[in-house]
Amino acid sequence: MNDFKILPSILAADHGQFLTDIATVDTPEIELLHVDVMDGHFVPNITFGPKVVASLRKHTRFALDVHLMISNPDQYVPAFAEAGADIITVHQEACPHLHRSVHLIKEQGVKAGVALNPATSLESVRHMLPDIDLLLIMTVNPGFGGQKFISNVLQKIEQAERLRRDNKFQYVIEVDGGVDTETAPKVYEAGARFLVAGSAIFRQEDRPAAIRGISNSITTFLDKQKTIHT
Ligand code: DX5
Ligand code: ZN
Repeated sequence: MNDFKILPSILAADHGQFLTDIATVDTPEIELLHVDVMDGHFVPNITFGPKVVASLRKHTRFALDVHLMISNPDQYVPAFAEAGADIITVHQEACPHLHRSVHLIKEQGVKAGVALNPATSLESVRHMLPDIDLLLIMTVNPGFGGQKFISNVLQKIEQAERLRRDNKFQYVIEVDGGVDTETAPKVYEAGARFLVAGSAIFRQEDRPAAIRGISNSITTFLDKQKTIHT
């Protein structure tokens, strides 16, 4: 059993035939869908709201990882929880009262995540690390799919993994943006265990093969490590 998960980002799916397209990633190894909510204010793009999340909850078997790229997320957290989100992630940059926002999510009985833009330091959320279930380290600037992976973020992932291990914090490190067969082993090695992938899956004709390709890029890397160390 792999110790990492691949989360298809439905931002890259065809929004005109959502459920049909999502059905193409329904393979045994996919447990969660990554759902990007954008408001045209915090990020320069608009996607969808709680109603779409409620439909996904009703019509799919997946757990829903809801990434809120919106200003004033506290206003919408209860609606997304009610719609059936399993994880709700808010951006540090959008939350002047981050402690309040994280606990508001938890009060709804939902797992709480905090996201960091590439230019935001880990230090800025240091005080929240014991409280969160997920730390989303953005590897692109949020707003669009298909952007280039920003490789200097790898250091932040390593730093988050070191802090997690040394302090026995419970959060999972998630990465989002530019994850493909080339970058997946790198973020895995740095400490990420939830890997969000949009274009690397949905821009391929054969989605199960694309998912396997990302997965294999990590297991091949692990096999090589084993050979080196034995
Ligand atoms: C970007 C979104 C991502 C996006 C990733 O703002 O948060 O989830 O879908 O897309 P790819 O994998 O194409 O970089
Ligand atoms: Zn996302």
